[in-house]
Amino acid sequence: MRFRVLTLFPQMFETIMETSIIGRALANNQIKFECDDIRNYATDKHKRVDDYPFGGGAGMVMKVEPLRDALLAKPRFGNSRVIYLTPKGRTLTHQVVTELATFDELILVCGHYEGVDQRFVDRYVDDEVSIGDYVLTGGELAAMIVIDSVSRLVNGVLTNEGSADEESFANGLLEYPHYTRPQAVDGDEVPSVLLSGNHQEIEKWRYQQSVRITGERRPELLSEEQVQELKNNFAKKKKRVDKRRS
Ligand SMILES: C[S@@+](CC[C@H](N)C(=O)[O-])C[C@H]1O[C@@H](n2cnc3c(N)ncnc32)[C@H](O)[C@@H]1O
Repeated sequence: MRFRVLTLFPQMFETIMETSIIGRALANNQIKFECDDIRNYATDKHKRVDDYPFGGGAGMVMKVEPLRDALLAKPRFGNSRVIYLTPKGRTLTHQVVTELATFDELILVCGHYEGVDQRFVDRYVDDEVSIGDYVLTGGELAAMIVIDSVSRLVNGVLTNEGSADEESFANGLLEYPHYTRPQAVDGDEVPSVLLSGNHQEIEKWRYQQSVRITGERRPELLSEEQVQELKNNFAKKKKRVDKRRS
């Protein structure tokens, strides 16, 4: 997977591309990353990349020509997509991330100011992606989120194979809770099933926890079957409590 970023602030990417899992994936050539400074493609002597909006109004708009020239300066690689990060785009979800991970190259265009001239979007952009219903000052953080989330799905990037499959959203549910040593902290104990060594029971417990947490926080993610399962568990628990009380 190759990532190419068009931005006015390439320095913002330095830390993420050198750190942790993404840094290692880059060093191991599992992903490739290139950052192009849009300002290098401005042709006037002031290196202007933005201008006032036609029709008036607040803020500045990024001009077509530097963006276009930055994009066209290098050949595309394989099955490639140009993505403009914008609050007007489709929301980035696990499903969208999975889809983006199937491409050979993602070219991520970071807007600034009021955004980019619509003619650039209409002519050159394949997809518009938003990281959520709020407005950032620029597309750089959104591009980093795309790079991070997509890279995790590239083969070999996560050293612990299968860990991406178990995480929140991968199987449609939020993930179960995690615990590590020590066994007790300030009187709070690790659930005993996790110490039992019984892998079948552990898996069952984790699945039930996933369904419970998803039901509490994101009930719309549950299937009919899982909703029924929750109802049954609740009924069983209520019966036990009633019996104890009587
Ligand atoms: C201040 S914003 C422009 C917002 C634009 N005027 C609007 O109201 O839709 C500047 C740039 O930040 C990026 N941006 C802001 N919010 C974003 C979001 N939620 N998702 C992705 N990119 C975002 C885009 O690249 C955008 O061009």
